[in-house]
Amino acid sequence: MKGVILAGGTGSRLDPITRVTNKQLLPVYDKPMIFYPIEAMVNAGVKEILIVTSGASAGDFLRLLGNGEALGVRHLSYTYQDGAGGIAEAISLARPFVGDDRMVVILGDNVIGGNIVEPARRFGAQPLGAKVLLKEVENPSAYGVAELDGDRIVRFVEKPTDPPSNLAVTGIYFYDAQAFSLIEQLERSDRGELEVTDLNNAYLERGQMTHDVLDGYWADCGESIGHYLQACNLVAKHGANRIA
Ligand code: DAU
Repeated sequence: MKGVILAGGTGSRLDPITRVTNKQLLPVYDKPMIFYPIEAMVNAGVKEILIVTSGASAGDFLRLLGNGEALGVRHLSYTYQDGAGGIAEAISLARPFVGDDRMVVILGDNVIGGNIVEPARRFGAQPLGAKVLLKEVENPSAYGVAELDGDRIVRFVEKPTDPPSNLAVTGIYFYDAQAFSLIEQLERSDRGELEVTDLNNAYLERGQMTHDVLDGYWADCGESIGHYLQACNLVAKHGANRIA
């Protein structure tokens, strides 16, 4: 399985601290934000990783990470997203890197307390399709949210004003290579983006989406300055990427 980390976007919700740099280069306690998703992948044995980035600071990722060896990465690639056309658009750029393989995608601003070893193993045992990791949150309106019927997800909704549950879809996604053809069929949303929520709904409609609930804390540093601060404090207090 290949790893894809999305480190583009505009970071507008953290303005002005993202005005002259990329959000994923900001520190989270004692490390740059991008280190956390890389470590989560390496902990799960995913060591061939592509970083999708954008903007004027893109070159700084190379200066920071080099070939990735210091973080345990076997092969580190980089690609560039022109603009911020959405998470699904960023994923589509990974097509030449992933080929017919499977991938785990982690959003570059997500930090976890635990690890993704068990979900990755379960996805590996799945014949095809996708898996999302859910987490109970207090402010579901800020995220993609799962609507459930019993234990079954019936729909994903992006940042709903009236959330159907308090289960957020974290920025950790497992996909097979069908993702690339499914993304080709997506239409841009009202905000002009190819939405990961639409990709997830496409898998759901095919009956090929599974889910797990993530163990340990989950922080989306880009949600607001308050969440960014909270993520720094969680890492300082509990550490991150606990190995199984
Ligand atoms: O963190 C989980 C949430 O992430 C999910 O619950 C939502 O369903 C999903 O849409 C996403 O919401 P955000 O509002 O947090 O997305 P954001 O625009 O902050 O982008 C998340 C990451 O993806 C960010 O680290 C940068 C990267 N990104 C984003 C866009 C829009 C790209 O690489 N390219 C892009 O075009």
